[in-house]
Amino acid sequence: MRMYDIIEKKRDGYTLSEEEINFFVNGYTKNEIPDYQISALLMAIYFQNMTAEESASLTSAMVESGEKIDLSAIQGIKVDKHSTGGVGDTTTLILAPLVASAGVPVAKMSGRGLGHTGGTIDKLEAVPGFHTEITNDDFIKLVNNNKVAVVGQSGNLTPADKKLYSLRDVTATVNSIPLIASSIMSKKIASGADAIVLDVKKGAGAFMKEENDARILAETMVSIGNKVGRKTMAVISDMSQPLGNAIGNALEVREAINTLKGNGPKDLTELCLTLGSQMVVLANKAKTMDEAKSRLRENLENGKAINKFKQFLASQGGDSTVADHPELLPQSAYKLDLPAKTTGKVAAMEADDIGSAAMMLGAGRATKDTQIDLSVGIVLHKKIGDDVNEGEPLLTIYSNDKSVEEVKDKLYKSISISYQHVKVPELIYDTILNQ
Ligand code: URA
Ligand code: CA
Repeated sequence: MRMYDIIEKKRDGYTLSEEEINFFVNGYTKNEIPDYQISALLMAIYFQNMTAEESASLTSAMVESGEKIDLSAIQGIKVDKHSTGGVGDTTTLILAPLVASAGVPVAKMSGRGLGHTGGTIDKLEAVPGFHTEITNDDFIKLVNNNKVAVVGQSGNLTPADKKLYSLRDVTATVNSIPLIASSIMSKKIASGADAIVLDVKKGAGAFMKEENDARILAETMVSIGNKVGRKTMAVISDMSQPLGNAIGNALEVREAINTLKGNGPKDLTELCLTLGSQMVVLANKAKTMDEAKSRLRENLENGKAINKFKQFLASQGGDSTVADHPELLPQSAYKLDLPAKTTGKVAAMEADDIGSAAMMLGAGRATKDTQIDLSVGIVLHKKIGDDVNEGEPLLTIYSNDKSVEEVKDKLYKSISISYQHVKVPELIYDTILNQ
């Protein structure tokens, strides 16, 4: 087999065989094929696309390129959840204890990552004492006993994806649906998931700006999952404005606590119930989505969800009293309101710009080595469609720096207020249960 022929075949719009896909993934992982040939192939894939079969073969080849986590010692169907990324997305903090409270084992591997706020692990570290450095044996024991544990990523998972992603980053080939879909799915599968629920975001704060692209990405990932023997479902949800009200690490933990007590923002609660019910159904703990949803809603109201969260925090060294005393979480020195300059209805709250403002405050990482400030961030008091009077606070900035003029400028530019009728974006555009 020759790399030249594989590039030519894809360039001319033909379908690559499983053997050809294995050949280039293995060869590239072992440094036997040079970057320039893989770059050319990636660009050919960008323009010519891949079939569902090719995408599934690429996913499997990337899974096989490295270590795989073995979760077989955990009883039950392990369902993992992945979000394609957004601003102020607190869903994992809520979903993990929520679905565990319904008997679904949640064995969560999580990272720190770059972005507007930290990853799930950073957020949880806002809880005094909480740590994720646990042995594999303890991790499995915790999930078997409590149904939920979170551990930091370890091991050499999907090295082929790491190499390909870096190369895509510098060859303008990140934005290809089969490449994104196989990249995400390979990591979930290598992490040991039996079934997968995907939250595909659409809008200004997301990878996919258009509903149609988000839908094709979701359908492609669901199809890959089902082809490689992992039942997969997806939700396409709105990210034109931030999800929930809090953007920032400790602030999101506080929001998660409120939500787990049944007092969360409506959009965040609804999305968690929808994703959670897919997880419960995939784990065979309910027959229908409606049955799963009403059980989860009950657990938000009867204390089971928040009690599971307390147990989870304590089991990993965390101070579970934060659930009743959120003032024990890291606090910023200053709280500064942003007053509305005019009266009207909120017409836009650009999620990406609000995320950048949180980052300017120190809530997120620009590079791997950035130190995160867990206490800072933004809490929204208004969302799209809400009425606002001149002078009324649109949001509160939590900062350790008194002068936040630049951040305020950025926030004013990201929010528009209109006198006209405002169309409130739908939270959930669609759910994809099968492909
Ligand atoms: N996230 C990933 O993990 N991979 C991609 O290709 C894009 C987003
Ligand atoms: Ca939020």
